[in-house]
Amino acid sequence: MSDLIAIILAAGKGTRMKSKMPKVLHKVGGKPMVEHVLKAAEDSGAREKIVVVGFGSEQVVEFIGNRAKIALQEEQLGTGHAVLQAEKLLPDFVGTALILCGDTPLLEGHELKSFYEMHKESGAAASVLTDCTDSPAGYGRILRDADNNVSGIVEEKDASAEQKAIREINTGIYCVESPLLFEVLHTLSCNNAQGEYYLTDILLKLREKHQKICGIATEDFPMIMGINSRKQLAIAESIMRNRILDKLMDNGVTIMDPASTFIEASVEIGRDTIIYPFTWLEGQTKIGEDAIIGPNVRLENVEVGNATHLQFLYGHDCKVEKQVTAGPYVHLRPDTVIKDNVKIGNFVEVKNSTVGVGSKLPHLTYIGDSDIGNSVNMGCGCITVNYNGKKKYRTTIEDNAFVGCNSNLVAPVNIGKGSYVGAGSTITKDVPADALGVGRIRQINIKNWAEKYRNS
Ligand code: UD1
Ligand code: CA
Repeated sequence: MSDLIAIILAAGKGTRMKSKMPKVLHKVGGKPMVEHVLKAAEDSGAREKIVVVGFGSEQVVEFIGNRAKIALQEEQLGTGHAVLQAEKLLPDFVGTALILCGDTPLLEGHELKSFYEMHKESGAAASVLTDCTDSPAGYGRILRDADNNVSGIVEEKDASAEQKAIREINTGIYCVESPLLFEVLHTLSCNNAQGEYYLTDILLKLREKHQKICGIATEDFPMIMGINSRKQLAIAESIMRNRILDKLMDNGVTIMDPASTFIEASVEIGRDTIIYPFTWLEGQTKIGEDAIIGPNVRLENVEVGNATHLQFLYGHDCKVEKQVTAGPYVHLRPDTVIKDNVKIGNFVEVKNSTVGVGSKLPHLTYIGDSDIGNSVNMGCGCITVNYNGKKKYRTTIEDNAFVGCNSNLVAPVNIGKGSYVGAGSTITKDVPADALGVGRIRQINIKNWAEKYRNS
């Protein structure tokens, strides 16, 4: 078993976010930032994870559930003090602590893994992941001695003008050998511009103890980006979005306009599918091959089959099988299954229903709590009347039935196989197979009525 554990710092308020919510719960790519860090820690091979919580701890703990152990930092006295809170959970721990910040959502596990391996190879007591960047503002700067060894880290607020010009920054990611880590954490002081116990000061302390420390440079600056403000949150969002879109395009998906396409990392899309602009694909959405999705489609947890075309549509928690066309202006609600070759036109809503193979809902229809068979035709303006204000009932429409325009099917009701419903009917009784059901007042014509009316 690996001797690597991860400590994720997530107790800070995130003052610069100006938010009621703890910073690490702000979302990037549809998931809280701390979720991305947890995932990276898991993928790095760490055998145990500890999240240090403080500000808004109940919310953060609720989100984390049993994915990690929790250490509470009651007062946010700095990053060094935060790591110290994990000590109680690690009695007798001998090994490497990978220290991460909960506000770096672009981190990826494989990068952490190679950082850990380099740390192990170096034989250092502590390694810090660094990065040379043209925009070092806001980060701690790496100090190196005449032999180019890391001699310490200075926070921007404590840095001299000369130090501020240093382009090598502290990513806030470290590997530190334990129990040495906790030994030096106990010796930190808060004698600095922010009056905090800085984790960064452990490097100096270790050097004083003649321990080897090592600075390892990363080559992917966005990966380590720490989010302190809403502006940085937006930058991270667009980086993550482009990462996801790039991967999809590499796998054979056409994205017509990446700038107006929003796809979460969890979404799967098959080859030769084309995504038109203004499309949002979220959660456990899975799309087959040769589909055309968009413009203006939002899908949350929707399974879509091959060669299906959707436009101007919102679907959630439902399934649309293959070669379906739907849209514009369609709402597919939970527990709906649209089977192969169905055609859905404009202004149609379907909820908790199955629509069988080859059936048509061309215009202005509401289907709720219904089981529609194969090759059924619903005329314009048909409604399943599924709710009487107290209870909901189901409607069944069997194969090859033809429901005329502007009909109300008052559930519970069954429309038999191959039957017809006359246009404008309100159907309250079952229609037998092959019958015609008509439920409307018979038309009468009153001769010369209009002429009399005009002259009255
Ligand atoms: C920190 C580093 C800085 C580095 C930067 C990288 C220190 C002193 N500075 O600065 O060198 O360049 O990260 O992004 O470490 N936190 C706690 N408890 C606290 C304070 C902070 O858990 O008492 C957590 C925060 O929730 C956050 C992380 O630690 O996830 C970093 O804190 P933050 O205030 O963002 O530090 P920076 O100023 O960005
Ligand atoms: Ca930060």
